[in-house]
Amino acid sequence: MRKKIAAGNWKMNLGPITARAFVNDLLTQYPATCPGHPKIILAVPAIDLTTVASLLDGHKTISLAAQNLHQADKGAYTGEISAPMLVEAGCTHTLVGHSERREYFHEDNLLLHQKVRQALKNGLTPIYCFGETLAEREADQTFGVVEQQLREGLLTLEPAQFQQAILAYEPVWAIGTGKVATPAQAQEVHAYVRNLIQTRYGEEIAQETTILYGGSVKPDNAQELFACPDIDGGLVGGASLNVADFLAIANALP
Ligand code: PGA
Repeated sequence: MRKKIAAGNWKMNLGPITARAFVNDLLTQYPATCPGHPKIILAVPAIDLTTVASLLDGHKTISLAAQNLHQADKGAYTGEISAPMLVEAGCTHTLVGHSERREYFHEDNLLLHQKVRQALKNGLTPIYCFGETLAEREADQTFGVVEQQLREGLLTLEPAQFQQAILAYEPVWAIGTGKVATPAQAQEVHAYVRNLIQTRYGEEIAQETTILYGGSVKPDNAQELFACPDIDGGLVGGASLNVADFLAIANALP
C-alpha cells in the first residue's frame, strides 16, 4: 500500500522561536505513537531545521524536510546548503523544484534532476514538485508540461532510485491563490502521471508511488481531494501554518 502523506510547506515563515512554539503545539495534539495516524512531513526553513529536529526526536509519524538543497556536496557556494548538511541537521526529506524555486530562482528541470540525484545519493527522500501555469492550462498544454517536467527531472532515474521519491503535483495557478483544482481536475493529472510512471517503470512501481496534490488545500476541501483514487495526500502551504487547520487536513487522509 502506498503511503498517504500530509506535508506542510512553511515557505519563508517562522523563525526558530516561532517554529519551536508551533511544533510544541502540534506535538501536544498529535501524539508520537498514535496508531493509525497519518504521516506528516514538515518542510521548514533551513534556519529552523535543527530546532525542529530536536523537538521531533524519536517521533515516529512526523518527518522533517528541507525546502531546497544545493546540487554539490560542499564548496564555495555562499548562502547555499548541501545535502550532507541537511542530513546532519536531521532531515530525511527535501522538496525539489517547488514552483517558487522554478519561477523566482530559475531552477530548470535539468538542474532539478541534479538536485534529485544529490538528495538520493545522501539518503534524503526528494519530494519532486511539478505543475502547469494558468497560461499553460488555458493553452491546453497541461499534460505536455507535466510530462516534460517529469521526464527531464525524475523519470531518468533507475527504478530503485525512483521508488525512493515522492511526487507532488502543484498547478501553479492554485498555489496561494485560494483557487483549488477541482478533485476532477487534480485526479485527471494524477492519473496521467501514474500512467506515465507505469509506462516507464511498470505497474507495480506505479501503484506504489505516492503522488501528493498541492495548491490551496484547506480543511474544507482536503477530504474530497484525498478521496480521489490517485491522490495520496497533500502538500500544504498556507494552511500548514495553522496547527488546527493542518491537523484537520492530515486527519482527512483516508
Ligand atoms: P498553498 O501552497 O497551500 O498556500 O496554495 C502550496 C504549496 O506551495 O506547496
